[in-house]
Amino acid sequence: MAGQGLFLSFEGIDGAGKSTHIEALAERFRAAGRTVVLTREPGGTPLAEKIRALALHESMDALTEALLMFAARRDHLQQVIEPALARGNAVLCDRFTDATFAYQGGGRGFDWQLLSDLERMVQHLPAMPGQFRQPDMTLWFDLPPATAAVRLAGARLPDRFESQPAAFFEAVRAGYARRMAESPARFVRLDADQTKEDVWQAVIQAVQGRGWL
Ligand code: TYD
Repeated sequence: MAGQGLFLSFEGIDGAGKSTHIEALAERFRAAGRTVVLTREPGGTPLAEKIRALALHESMDALTEALLMFAARRDHLQQVIEPALARGNAVLCDRFTDATFAYQGGGRGFDWQLLSDLERMVQHLPAMPGQFRQPDMTLWFDLPPATAAVRLAGARLPDRFESQPAAFFEAVRAGYARRMAESPARFVRLDADQTKEDVWQAVIQAVQGRGWL
């Protein structure tokens, strides 16, 4: 895919371990001579990072929360992701729209169809009528919420999402499963309930399997 942009997103419940692997994968791409843009959602631009601080720490209703996630995403797409893809860079994004479906849709029970409408609107590609921006591949680090909770325990002060009970994360996990069922070609589910090394091997295999490394 030399010369073409590549967009990979990393998903999973809090404590799934995706952040370690996103850094390592960025290094592998750089070693292979690719320019990498390592970024995250909500966030990735000065404006979107301000929105992140609000969404993670202020209380609000589910619609406000969903709208803030998409507002941050819109700015991030326009300022960072689309320009990077146009330059042919590899964009590695720690969470993207699947997190909104999983957390706001699954976790909070927010209307799935409305999220789909927002997704189309916010990620719409002017040059390709009817199409909207999606990652080329989404790596879903999946593990039981009870295991994730043990990993997170005592790590630091939890944000509004991390402090949710186990049932919330079961619903988030179900949200990811539903998104994967809707886009099976885009998603790769990784069993994150293994050693870090085994998970890393699965990450590398997924990327190499598509011929991107
Ligand atoms: P996370 O990505 O886990 O970052 P950190 O490792 O710094 O904690 O935190 C982001 C939180 O935001 C996470 O709990 C999931 C939540 N979130 C949503 O609820 N909706 C979204 O659309 C996104 C992108 C994240």
